[in-house]
Amino acid sequence: MPTSTKFTTIKSLPSPKGNFLLGHLPQFNVSNKHQVLERWVDECGDLFKINFIGKEFVVSANPELNAEILKLRPEKFRRFSKINEILTEMGIVGVFNAEGDSWKRHRKPTSEALNLKKVKGYYPTISKTTKELLNKWKTYAENSTEVDIQKELARYTIDITTTIAFGYKLDTLNHKEDDFQKHLELIFPMVNERITAPIALWRIYKQKKDKALDHSLKTIEKIIHQFIKEAKERLTTTPELKENPSNFLEALLVEQENENTFSDDEIYGNVFTILLAGEDTTSNSISWALYYLAQHPGVVVKVRQEAKEIYSDSLVPETTQLLHKLKYANAVAQEAIRLKPVTPNLYMQANEDIVLYNLHIPKDTSIMLQNKVAQTSEQYFSNPNDFIPERWLKSGCPMQQNHTPDTIKAFGGGARFCPGMNLAMHEMTIAISAICNQFDFSLAVKPEEVKEQFAFTMFPENLILKLKTP
Ligand code: HEM
Repeated sequence: MPTSTKFTTIKSLPSPKGNFLLGHLPQFNVSNKHQVLERWVDECGDLFKINFIGKEFVVSANPELNAEILKLRPEKFRRFSKINEILTEMGIVGVFNAEGDSWKRHRKPTSEALNLKKVKGYYPTISKTTKELLNKWKTYAENSTEVDIQKELARYTIDITTTIAFGYKLDTLNHKEDDFQKHLELIFPMVNERITAPIALWRIYKQKKDKALDHSLKTIEKIIHQFIKEAKERLTTTPELKENPSNFLEALLVEQENENTFSDDEIYGNVFTILLAGEDTTSNSISWALYYLAQHPGVVVKVRQEAKEIYSDSLVPETTQLLHKLKYANAVAQEAIRLKPVTPNLYMQANEDIVLYNLHIPKDTSIMLQNKVAQTSEQYFSNPNDFIPERWLKSGCPMQQNHTPDTIKAFGGGARFCPGMNLAMHEMTIAISAICNQFDFSLAVKPEEVKEQFAFTMFPENLILKLKTP
């Protein structure tokens, strides 16, 4: 980070070794892009530039600069304009890709639908779905089945999110709507691929994967439109719902009727956004927590002890009051998020010329915020690569001298920080506590065979667990 009063220009920033013509594109054109960025941070420090066939990007792994950029939205910075271009092309126009005043219009009902009070109202859905997950996993434990945890947890979060978003549970946990999950699974990797593609080849010629994406988008669109139709009918037959909408979709439709704020396409886009934003992120975060727990049986025992003390013989904590007492399970969730943030990079673009920390950033500069490196740096956390949930407890761990939670940007920052954070933390805490309470588990593969993969979110590939009843 430049500290002198002299301005630094992007031109003068260091750059990793690249190809003369293609720049850094060949190295970045891999499925673990986030790790390539981490290697470049090692090579060049926390502020550098890269280019893809001449198009320049700044990469910042500096937590202060990153926090400032996040804070200066929506006025001075926005997401990469390519994100909006790609999502709009897919028919998704919602809060994640909206900008400026349009973003404020989209953000208001989204924040309201996901505020703490609403999340408390969703808790019966969360606890019921958690019980269904446990019942299903009991069979796995009895039959010594090896379980692909990431896929299982994706079903868990889809069931919760669809109930919250449309008031209709797809029941993917019991394989009733397997297709839906398969279609949803395709979207994120393709968004990821297209955002960083130097040429929009799919607009010239559609490969098999592009056709598969079109088919998935059409299928999901049909399902969501059916839900919109049903919700509109409910609001007509039960007008009381207009005063007190029972889910996100109804709330958007009431807003549309009262304020004429949303088009039908925007309602569709926002429901799709919530589905996408709420599913992979949370299920991958719980998966990473289980990855660490499987290697730390002592921590599992502590989570179980806490569960027994707080909700004794119940399957799950039945109220949010009980859930909030699960300090240790919550610490496990926070530690997993610190070590394996599922959104390690955020992509921003300057709306105008600006100078930050003496760096002159011209209008339209694209900046990749690499947030993971700081979260696992000795400068901000002692024993940064070790899984130590105790560091999050008030009494703390005497071995932890450095502890800087503000460095963590796993949920973003500023006015656009993740509105689903409360919901995600409720889901993570209940799942971690209840799973540890009911099962012992171990990795069915070697830890090094579980790989970080990045497809817009970072997920553990090959996370196979063996479950046992303790
Ligand atoms: C552990 C789980 C989750 C993680 C790590 C996560 C992370 C993030 C991050 C990093 C952002 C970008 C924030 C920024 O630009 O500053 C974001 C945005 C967003 N998230 Fe989450 N998220 C999670 C769960 C959820 C859930 C459960 C929902 C809803 C059901 C949700 C809905 C959203 C929405 C709508 C946005 C866009 C906000 C905006 O642009 O104003 N997220 N999330």
